[in-house]
Amino acid sequence: MQEDQLDQLLTCRLDSGRKAVEPCTIVIFGASGDLTARKLIPALYHLSVEKQMATPFRVIGFARREKSDASFREEMKQALQQFSRTKVVDAVKWDTFAENLHYCQGDLTDAAAYKKLSDLLATFPDERLRRNLLFYLSIGPSQFAPVVEQCHAAGLLAMNDAGPFWQRVVVEKPFGHDLPSAYKLNAELTRFAHEKQIFRIDHYLGKETVQNILMFRFSNSIFERLWNRESVDHVQITVSEKLGVGGRGGYYEEAGALRDMVQNHLLQVLALVAMEPPVSLQAESVRDEKVKALKAIRPLSVEDVARQVVRGQYFAGMIDDQLRPGYRQETKVATSSNTETYAAMKLFIDNWRWSGVPFYLRTGKNLPLSASEVRIQFRPTPNVLFAAKSGGKLDPNALTLRLQPNEGISIRFNGKVPGTSTQVRPVRMHFGYDTEFGAYTPEAYERLLLEAMAGDATLFIRRDEVETAWGIVDPIRAGWADKPLTNREFYSAGTWGPVAAEDLLAQVGHVWRDPQPLK
Ligand code: BG6
Repeated sequence: MQEDQLDQLLTCRLDSGRKAVEPCTIVIFGASGDLTARKLIPALYHLSVEKQMATPFRVIGFARREKSDASFREEMKQALQQFSRTKVVDAVKWDTFAENLHYCQGDLTDAAAYKKLSDLLATFPDERLRRNLLFYLSIGPSQFAPVVEQCHAAGLLAMNDAGPFWQRVVVEKPFGHDLPSAYKLNAELTRFAHEKQIFRIDHYLGKETVQNILMFRFSNSIFERLWNRESVDHVQITVSEKLGVGGRGGYYEEAGALRDMVQNHLLQVLALVAMEPPVSLQAESVRDEKVKALKAIRPLSVEDVARQVVRGQYFAGMIDDQLRPGYRQETKVATSSNTETYAAMKLFIDNWRWSGVPFYLRTGKNLPLSASEVRIQFRPTPNVLFAAKSGGKLDPNALTLRLQPNEGISIRFNGKVPGTSTQVRPVRMHFGYDTEFGAYTPEAYERLLLEAMAGDATLFIRRDEVETAWGIVDPIRAGWADKPLTNREFYSAGTWGPVAAEDLLAQVGHVWRDPQPLK
């Protein structure tokens, strides 16, 4: 073997057992909405260009407005030009894709519209296009159950998960607004579709870096042995957003940061960071472990909420030299609103691995930077030698998983500053996705649509998972009840949140480590 081959990088292809994507029709309910234009059509187009779609396939946009196939195609082309991750849209490739795009006009509540949908499907030449159906519910949550019922009544959706043909339902968030509503929704949906046919989306699970949490933990031997209470002091999960609520004030008034971000994205990331190794890579094994981790989170009493959870709301402030309005001045927001645009909390996971280790979660709008990070903060060294000499100021080791943007992983450790004096300071070892793999990162929706078409539910939320997550956040909302926000809970747009959030960590001598704008 030549010397330069000794350290060859060994890529393990793990796709052998992967389910194949079969020819099918994707029916998008709510095709006039933002999600279709911004995410779904661009994702399907890219999958088609990259030859990841099965042949043949069809996409039907279903919505109320009157439109022809041609005008729907034209609209989607415009959207693609605006939102595609590759900006320049290849006209020939678009035309090839667009031939498969159809439009069905109808009211979601009107049985006749589903008959029309059924008639359109019947014109497709291949039986698989008529009977392998992916129903994508990009509509308001109150319409999920009625639409699924109508599809069932029209004979388009059979309760089946093992036949030669399949029908699946993809459900966008929010999945309910609390535990009782999520129960109810689950009960309603499972009257017409088996749990295995229901694919609940959390788009964070489609992100490369979020998927990499499991690879990072379970395909290396050096980290997992540190991944426990013996070595970890605490964990910080930050999902910060530089944007305010913009035009979504109406929705956000009901949701707040807790329902919009914590119940889903942050708890999903926490579950992946905290879970035990699954017994296999099968969807159910992975999801079993995630649910176990979520179930081990210590429930919060009303007193705990007061001590361990902080909410915040932004007032007007500067970001990038521009004045952002306060939340109460946003459109469709009540001028006396107490809705939280920021939430931070300390959670404990009561199991052998994590007992006593605080997991700090925070998310907010109008913060200085858009960045999502998991920081594993290791225990400090014993107070001897360098630590003793520095008066206990040595920076503890930390491992940061940067989920977005500037995706990467960094380790911080201390080293000697070169020179004749003795100085120690943290240095950073960094792996960046861009440098290692180039800039290509598929959009979360590409992966999620592909998995839904293949029938692999690993990256989707199971019924007990969504219910457990509501069970964690509901007591927080109940603890806040109708209490008005206090001064310590407001923060200026462009800052890292309310002072109350600093206090939360300061109680035990911890500090938030804010994500940095990496080069
Ligand atoms: C959505 C929330 O689920 O996630 C939005 O409804 C939020 O409020 C968005 O902005 C954040 O997603 P990403 O992928 O930009 O981090």
